[in-house]
This record gives sequence, structure tokens and C-alpha cells, in this order.
Amino acid sequence: MILLSARAGEESRVEGLQAGADDYLVKPFTARELLARVGAHLTMARIRRDAAERERELRRALERAHSELKVKVRDRTSELQRAEEDLRALSARLLQTQDEERRHIARELHDSAGQTLALLGMHLALIARKAENTLPEVSRETKNAAELLQQLKKEIRTTSYLLHPPLLDEIGLSSAVDWYIEGLKERSGLDIRFLIANDFGRVPRNTELVIFRLIQESLTNIHRHSGATKASICVARSNGLVSVEVTDNGKGMPREKLLEVQSGGHGVGLRGMRERVRQFRGEMRIESDSSGTRILVTLPLPKAEEQRTHLHRGE
Ligand SMILES: Nc1ncnc2c1ncn2[C@@H]1O[C@H](COP(=O)(O)OP(=O)(O)O)[C@@H](O)[C@H]1O
Ligand SMILES: [Mg+2]
Repeated sequence: MILLSARAGEESRVEGLQAGADDYLVKPFTARELLARVGAHLTMARIRRDAAERERELRRALERAHSELKVKVRDRTSELQRAEEDLRALSARLLQTQDEERRHIARELHDSAGQTLALLGMHLALIARKAENTLPEVSRETKNAAELLQQLKKEIRTTSYLLHPPLLDEIGLSSAVDWYIEGLKERSGLDIRFLIANDFGRVPRNTELVIFRLIQESLTNIHRHSGATKASICVARSNGLVSVEVTDNGKGMPREKLLEVQSGGHGVGLRGMRERVRQFRGEMRIESDSSGTRILVTLPLPKAEEQRTHLHRGE
């Protein structure tokens, strides 16, 4: 709409435009001027319409792309989640199989191989005795062989116990760890302190095994990597939680390695520990600086177990 008016002046023009006119033309004007203005307004209106239409199209296309992307991301996310769940289930199975295998091999070594070696020892003793007078040289050599056999028996027994300490199932965590530490002290010269409450009692077999493996892996790492002279282990339980703390006075880990280890990367040992702890719904923290390394694990005990042991202890 173009207002054609005899009223000139800025006031009237503003008033007309504010009333909704597209333009305001003051008399006198020529037909050409009017036509030119109308033409310009029409062109502008078309350009605006086209732009608005293009903008709408663009917006629609954007919305389509966005929702397609959302669907894709959702699919991909649930695919990844499934893959992660599969992977976790697999790793749990692997750890469990590894435990069973170790237990099995340990028993085989201890029972079958142990018995064969014991028999062999008896035979050697017999031969040594029979040859004593007639073939003294053979007798001496046989005795040497029997000594080597004793050594082999001891080595096999140690290997078997390291694979799976029988004390763990028979007597409990405290004795199994004591035994392990005694051996490691001898092999490594490390000064190791082990603190556990006298009334710690028993916890489920799998929890005992996981704690034992945590201690075993941590101490092996201290022996292999830390250069420490001292290590200490503290196992305690309270409020339905078991806590295990292993510290050393070694050189610690460089910062980048610590960050890597904390974010779940790097070596198989610590990752395996983290995975075991995760399966037991526990938590694992690693701190390390130039004065040493500290690994702290907490594991929740199954509810029924907590109550049962407390009843045992008269609490
Ligand atoms: N107590 C420790 N003191 C210093 N460094 C350690 C200690 N424990 C672990 N590390 C470092 O963390 C790395 C990862 O350990 P781990 O996952 O057990 O793998 P691995 O023992 O096979 O190298 C080790 O290679 C070592 O560099
Ligand atoms: Mg290791």
C-alpha cells in the first residue's frame, strides 16, 4: 500500500508509515515516479518471499539431517554399549576361567606330579641302599639325584601354591598372605609388613581370592618396578566393606604413567586388578609420587555374609 498525500513534512510521512503503509508519496509526483516505486516494492517483496522460502527449506533440511543424525548416534551408542557389555562379560569369564584353570593346574601339580616324584624318590633311595656295598659310585650318584629330586619337589610345590595357595581355601586369607609374604621376602629381600585384624574372620571364597590376587600383583609390581626397600599391606573390614591398602617406599611412577594407569590404560596387571575389583562392585585408587606408591581398594561384602559373620562374633 502506498499512501498518496497532499500533506508534506516529516511528521505526516512518519504517521503514514506507522499506520502500515509501505511507502508515502507527496503530491505532486509523476506517473513514472509512482510506477518506479511500485515496481521497486514488488521486486523487494518477491526477493523477501524467495528468501523466506529458501530459509524455510533450509531449516527443514537441517531438521531432517539432525533427526537422522540423532537416530544414527542412538543406534551407534547402543551398539557400542552392547559391545562393551559383551567385552566385560567376556573379560569376567576369562578371569573366572583363569582362576579355575590355576586351581586345577595347582592341584594336578601338587597331587599327581607330587605323588610321582615321591615314588621316584622312594625308588632312588632303594637303589642307593642296594648299591651301597657293591657299586658305591652308583649309590653316590643316586643320592645326588635324590637330592635334586627333593629340590624339584619343593619347586613344584611352590609353583603350585603360587598358582593357587591351598591355605586360602583351607584356613583363610591371613595364612595364605603370610605364606606368600614369607616366600617373597626370601626371594626379594623386601621388608614387608602385613596388618590384618585378628577377628577378620572369613569372607566369601571369591572375595578372599580377589584380595589375595590384589596383594600378589601389587607386591610383584613393587618387587619388579619400584626399587622399594619396604612395603606394607593393611587389610581391614568395617561397615560391610573390606579395604586393602598396599604401600611402598619406592621411586613411584612418572606422572604420565600414573595418569595412564589411573585412566585404566597401560599394563595388564593393574588393568586385570581394576577389572576384578569392578566385577565385585568395588573401587580402586592408585596414588604415586617420588616417595612411593599406594594402592587402595575397597570391596563391598555381600549383605547376608556381613550379617552372618557379625552374628558369629556376637555383635
Ligand atoms: N609399586 C610400583 N612402583 C613403581 N611403578 C609401578 C608400581 N606398580 C606398577 N608400576 C608401573 O606401572 C606399570 C604397570 O604395571 P602392571 O599393570 O602390573 O604391568 P606390568 O607389571 O606387567 O608392567 C609397570 O610397568 C610399572 O612401570
Ligand atoms: Mg605387574
